[in-house]
Amino acid sequence: MNSNQKDHSSFNVKLKLREHFLEKLNEPKVLDLFCGTGGMYKHLYKNYEYKGIDIDKIHDEDKCLKMDNKQFISENDVSGYNYFDLDAYGCPYELMYLLAEKELPNEFTLIVTDGSPLNLKRNSKLKNFKIISSIERIPKERKIPHLYYFYEDIFLNFISKFCEKSNTEPTEILRSNNKGINVYYWGIHFKRKRRGLSGT
Ligand SMILES: C[S@@+](CC[C@H](N)C(=O)[O-])C[C@H]1O[C@@H](n2cnc3c(N)ncnc32)[C@H](O)[C@@H]1O
Repeated sequence: MNSNQKDHSSFNVKLKLREHFLEKLNEPKVLDLFCGTGGMYKHLYKNYEYKGIDIDKIHDEDKCLKMDNKQFISENDVSGYNYFDLDAYGCPYELMYLLAEKELPNEFTLIVTDGSPLNLKRNSKLKNFKIISSIERIPKERKIPHLYYFYEDIFLNFISKFCEKSNTEPTEILRSNNKGINVYYWGIHFKRKRRGLSGT
């Protein structure tokens, strides 16, 4: 299947995952960071407070901005949003790391489409996880045999780094994948960690 063909079973999985996490929030305020032509918006987000960002195509000039999402996150206060949709074609790890550095609400959801399993299947290198190789200080050109089989562990390890950085903890993690098992769909609900007696 090429990127122009629709995988309807995946589309339904993506809708269900998002619906589940929308229902967890009293008042979802959606930041749709890869909004495109608004597939998710039309099905799910149109009745909520919403902003869409896309570098190439947007679906509503009043509600969306055409710009790079990393630039948007770097330059804007995002603490008013509690539902972040990262429906990337590739691997949105750098964007997630940027988010972790921002002020975030006490409770929020991240929805992530991650195409990195496909890259891992092809070359077993951390090359496509630049941010992870730098956090873990593993040379990105190093080939690690069968790395693909550890994809979920790599992702979850990254989430634990996200939590450390943002002082949050996950309260629910759901995942699914496409038919070829090379794209994963994650939904993660986070809560701010309560400060311990030591103030940490
Ligand atoms: C899988 S599509 C999104 C589909 C969309 N969520 C929907 O429901 O219709 C991925 C989108 O990411 C956008 N994109 C890729 N890199 C981006 C970047 N750096 N900043 C913002 N948008 C980007 C592309 O233009 C494309 O529209």
